[in-house]
Amino acid sequence: MNRAAPEPKANMGEPVPRLEARLKVTGQARYASDMPVNRPAFAYLVTSAIAKGTITKIDLVDAKAVPGVLDILTHENTGDLKTLKYGAGGGGASSSIQDLGPKIQHDGQIVAMVVAETFEGAREAAYRVKISYNAEKPSGSFDAKGVTESSVKKELPKAGDAAKAYDDAAIKLDVAYGTPTQHHNAIELFTTTAVWNDDKLTLYEPSQFMYGLKNSAASKLGIKPEQVHAISPFVGGAFGSKSQLTPRTGLVALAAKKLGRPVKLVATRDQGFTIATYRAETRHQIKIGAQKDGRITSFQHQGWEVTSRPDDYSVSGVEDSARVYGFGSVKTGVTLVHADRNTPGFMRSPPVVPYVYALESAMDELAVKLAMDPIELRRVNDSMKDATGKEWSSRSLMKCYDQAAQAFGWSKRSAKPGSMRDGDWLIGWGCASAVYPTHIGAGTARVRLSSDGRARVQIAAHEIGTGVMTVVGQMAAERLGIPLDAVQVELGDSNYPPVPVAGGSNQTASCCSVVMKVCDAVVAKLNGAKSETVGTAAPGNSLESKFARLGVSTIEEYAEFIPPDAQPNVVTELFTNPIKQLYAGHPTLVGGSKGKKLMYAMGAEMVEVRVHSQTREIRVPRIVGAFAAGRIMNTRTARSQYMGAMIWGISSALHEATEIDPRNARYINDNLADYLVPVNADIQQLEVILVSEKDDFVNPAGVKGIGELGNVGTAAAIANAVYHATGIRVRQLPIRIEKIIA
Ligand code: MOS
Repeated sequence: MNRAAPEPKANMGEPVPRLEARLKVTGQARYASDMPVNRPAFAYLVTSAIAKGTITKIDLVDAKAVPGVLDILTHENTGDLKTLKYGAGGGGASSSIQDLGPKIQHDGQIVAMVVAETFEGAREAAYRVKISYNAEKPSGSFDAKGVTESSVKKELPKAGDAAKAYDDAAIKLDVAYGTPTQHHNAIELFTTTAVWNDDKLTLYEPSQFMYGLKNSAASKLGIKPEQVHAISPFVGGAFGSKSQLTPRTGLVALAAKKLGRPVKLVATRDQGFTIATYRAETRHQIKIGAQKDGRITSFQHQGWEVTSRPDDYSVSGVEDSARVYGFGSVKTGVTLVHADRNTPGFMRSPPVVPYVYALESAMDELAVKLAMDPIELRRVNDSMKDATGKEWSSRSLMKCYDQAAQAFGWSKRSAKPGSMRDGDWLIGWGCASAVYPTHIGAGTARVRLSSDGRARVQIAAHEIGTGVMTVVGQMAAERLGIPLDAVQVELGDSNYPPVPVAGGSNQTASCCSVVMKVCDAVVAKLNGAKSETVGTAAPGNSLESKFARLGVSTIEEYAEFIPPDAQPNVVTELFTNPIKQLYAGHPTLVGGSKGKKLMYAMGAEMVEVRVHSQTREIRVPRIVGAFAAGRIMNTRTARSQYMGAMIWGISSALHEATEIDPRNARYINDNLADYLVPVNADIQQLEVILVSEKDDFVNPAGVKGIGELGNVGTAAAIANAVYHATGIRVRQLPIRIEKIIA
């Protein structure tokens, strides 16, 4: 062939724009509920008006009289749905509370679903469903009478005699913190569309785990996984809320089956607060014992987390907080508090957002006690080993602090609270560490290379906004030695080879590791050797001549990647290998504190706050975040991740909290007008520094994952800055004006 071999291009790390950018900004990207289906009926949920009790009577007469009503599901006619095992590991049910009644276990529990010819008809009929309850007094959260406590059933970090070391310490700190309930509030609502063709079910549902959705939906309906095809090409925000099967999916599929036509549900924003998961409120008691030089000899961290009555969901972030520094001894514990609430679940950086907020606030309080610069305190306690003696695979915390401090101008900070001022504004500078466990899981992928130099990657990954489509494309382009625009990436479909849940920031590491492997297999088949990529083929040895020699026009390879430490889950004792488990909907994520070494991405965040001396209004004019997370696959999408994450951090620190009415255990501000999140006017300067780091231990791609790292330190950095500005230490988030009235 006459055409020259394509120009080789090393695409990894380049700030190429996301492959789907044009589709998204022109409104052409199709989300699950945009998928055209033939003659859909529309569903509308009815949710419980009480938090605890029993349904005594359901009156559907008025509802059925609404024109166009096709069916109404209640607990009386949904007995065919199976009870799915609760599974917080990704892939299982989001809650044990799956039945529409008669038992009510939280406010807003789904109690009926109306299906009608139109959305408006379904909604009208839903309002006319009359349900009588036998209501009991609910217990909504901490401090409510009637909550019960249990201990987490896992081994938590413990080393040395922390109680004695604390007693012996020259400097002692004993403080308590709290974080509120938060809801993900993704812009895309919780939607499900179900279409049956004979005994085959197609589900359009936004998902962070295609194979979890496929397998869990099959179990819920009592059918075989191969009967379910799950499709979710784009996800309009998930943040952990779309990783498990919620009860709505089974209901919509059942309704579609009964009616013999497609059924579409788009739950409302307020229903989203109770039909899926949320970030639970937490409390913390931290005791630190230190020497006068700042060296910490004892670290004790006890957490309390709210959960539902039946489920033992916990984030247990002491597993991470106890590793951040080289503590002399540690003692940790976590207590679950069971209330009449829906089951909480993953929400961006689940373990570390609350627990590291507490740790990093306490570190600042200790620095104040020691009259020591807070960065110096971190430096004194920086260590390549944790208290149990486990070593870090790589650790760049102080490198992050140094680069952030340089950019921020930290050396100009005057230590005394309230000593920096600009007219009526009190200025505060605070800092905190960010830390997130590096996870990776077994994954699979298929790649086909054609003799025209084009490649297609198929992988059941999840474009939840992170840019995974782009970095997968970049990885394939690099390994195959072809330009990025010659690569087509297909994802978000359970007909493609599985990868783990897009959670725990594992997706880039898991996907890139397997895509690397499968591309190398394609090249090996083409060349008979791994050394030569497609694009570097010598003249006279062109791509087409190679294909011609092999007598084919395409080469297709499928590969499986298993991280060395991956062990089969306990969930599925039947299976003996992580790939089989993955196909069955159970990812095996490894890393963090659980591997042979401590695998974490780290960062340092520095914040300037301004507090008005009279009105106590709080502004955040600038944040600098320096982050080290191994190899960065795309500096543009990485920067976007970090910026978005730090904005979440500002949100956690100053705005976000789901308020609960203790009288009826009900969320009050369940809408985007009352649930406060930052707007553009709240965000000013955000600077992201990508700190270089190489770590070949974590995985072949050297990727640590950045999806959740950036919002871990922000809340503490802001709290510490508010203290520096005002001398007032706020220990319960969010920090609002009423808490800093002098
Ligand atoms: Mo993320 S909260 O691990 O989906």
